[in-house]
Amino acid sequence: MANFSPAFLDEVVARSDLVEIISRHVDLKKSGSNMMGLCPFHHEKSPSFSVSPDKQLYYCFGCGQGGGAFQFLIQHDGYSFPEAVEYLAEKAGMEVPQDRDRSPVAEAKQKQAYAMLAQAADAMGRALRSEEGSAARAYLQQRGMPTDIIRDYGLGYAPAGYGFMQKVFGNDARSNSQLEAVGLLFKGEHGYGDRFRDRLMFSIRDRRGRIVGFGGRVLGQGEPKYLNSPETDWFHKSDLLYGFSEHRDSIRKSKQLVVVEGYMDVLGMAVHGLKIALAPLGTAIGERQIREILRLCDSPVFSFDGDRAGRQAAWRALERMMPLLKSELRPRFLYLPEGEDPDSLLRREGKDAFQHRLDKESKPVLETWLMGLQLLAGHGADGRARMAKKADAMLATMTDTYLSQAWRQEVEQATGIVLQQARRRPQARASSQPSPTPAQPSAQARLNAVEERFLAALMQQSARFRDLPDEAISFFVDNEIISPLYSRAFSIIAEAEDDNTDIARQLAQEYPDSQTMISRWVNQATVQDIEFKSLLLDMEANDIRLRIKRGLSLVEAIPMQHRLREIQQEQRRLTEQLHETGA
Ligand code: UTP
Ligand code: MN
Repeated sequence: MANFSPAFLDEVVARSDLVEIISRHVDLKKSGSNMMGLCPFHHEKSPSFSVSPDKQLYYCFGCGQGGGAFQFLIQHDGYSFPEAVEYLAEKAGMEVPQDRDRSPVAEAKQKQAYAMLAQAADAMGRALRSEEGSAARAYLQQRGMPTDIIRDYGLGYAPAGYGFMQKVFGNDARSNSQLEAVGLLFKGEHGYGDRFRDRLMFSIRDRRGRIVGFGGRVLGQGEPKYLNSPETDWFHKSDLLYGFSEHRDSIRKSKQLVVVEGYMDVLGMAVHGLKIALAPLGTAIGERQIREILRLCDSPVFSFDGDRAGRQAAWRALERMMPLLKSELRPRFLYLPEGEDPDSLLRREGKDAFQHRLDKESKPVLETWLMGLQLLAGHGADGRARMAKKADAMLATMTDTYLSQAWRQEVEQATGIVLQQARRRPQARASSQPSPTPAQPSAQARLNAVEERFLAALMQQSARFRDLPDEAISFFVDNEIISPLYSRAFSIIAEAEDDNTDIARQLAQEYPDSQTMISRWVNQATVQDIEFKSLLLDMEANDIRLRIKRGLSLVEAIPMQHRLREIQQEQRRLTEQLHETGA
């Protein structure tokens, strides 16, 4: 991790506006002192995602994601930590200190690469609008692409012949080798040459919307039909989905997602107002991409060509999907008529007919699986045996055990064979891909309901720390995770020069691993003073009981028992008070 100083990070956070950052993706509505909206990290119908403008922390009570501005950029937009810091610092007009952990050379190179790719895309856009782009423009027109789509999705044209890139960037050794590194030039026997020539160009963006590579289509017929950027440090085909950064928000809003095969399908759907399509980059869809898709939408439709190749591709996708399936996810599969793709269908039948196919002709994943098994196994008794065997092996890759039981029953019913219960239990999926979300801190602070609310009360209003009795300092001593935070809070208060110190914000910064937890405290229902009083009494009583249980001398125990009785009386008074105020 980078070595930014805590003071610098403080300053960056202080000058950023979390509500503004989150509002770009989530509609937030005021709710008490916080803002609420539909969580961008999981699927939900009623809002459980809360943002605290005071504390600059967000938390989702549905899925447990939480943190501050840096976390949001990391979890939601795919920034690395140093990138998030840099982004916010630059936005706030601050000078960014050099990150000492990363070689400045590597960093500069990466920046240069992105800048170069963006500049290349611009040049290709200009070429498309210029004289030499007239044939490409005509081709796009013939395929029904309006200018706003051409502009928004960064379409362009790479002119015929060699030397285009060098005209844009200069023909010096340095630019040439950089252009080669980003995949725009190749090095042949006679020097450097343009990789893309006389092709319609599609800009491919990463999650953050930065251009990381290109796909280039021949105009009309020719081989290869599409040429893509080679894999580089910035362009990993198996991690990317075409249309992701462009469509993420509208997919969330409409709760619709369609996985298609080609760039032109993504665009063709956008032309018809369906900005909900994503496509892999010419390779078979992989587990990481499917994971990303299921995170974005719980009922995506995977569309495939109805021919043999399409059915095989669907089966491969299904195999990759099995380990990720959960009962609350409802992916569907749609086979299109042979030789058609979403783009051609939309042009032929129009939007409504296509939407009808998506809604009515797509089949649930279970049905698709059973059909695929049957097709694979063939007929007769031996076919049924093969089907059962194959099903058993595939069920073993599932991680949702309830779902896999339900599916097993379906296969048993279809085949009349009792499955062997998948003896090879997945080795806890140890070999599976790491999740794209940053790992949650592994250690969980176990807290009971009183402790949870008590900490929430303190974090919501730092001043309450000042009102705590002396004994309170010993609360949580046995809790390895809470204890350091809790005692640090006391020292922060002691060091504070004024009353404006916000404990939650400061702790969140000093203990990044605990940020999610702190976000949860500040975003939950406000703890009123009377509840706080009662919580404090509960905490004290529990503390005393614990000490008594651990064994105390009689001299020590008697005043404790006495205090316990006092506490009970105070509790009773508080309860009466609560009833009177009708709270
Ligand atoms: P298609 O051949 O279905 O192309 O390839 P398409 O997207 O429908 O394009 P049009 O409508 O014919 O113009 C589907 C996807 O497979 C990848 C591309 O990503 C393409 O969008 N592909 C295809 C390649 O990478 N290389 C190829 O040579 C062909
Ligand atoms: Mn097509």
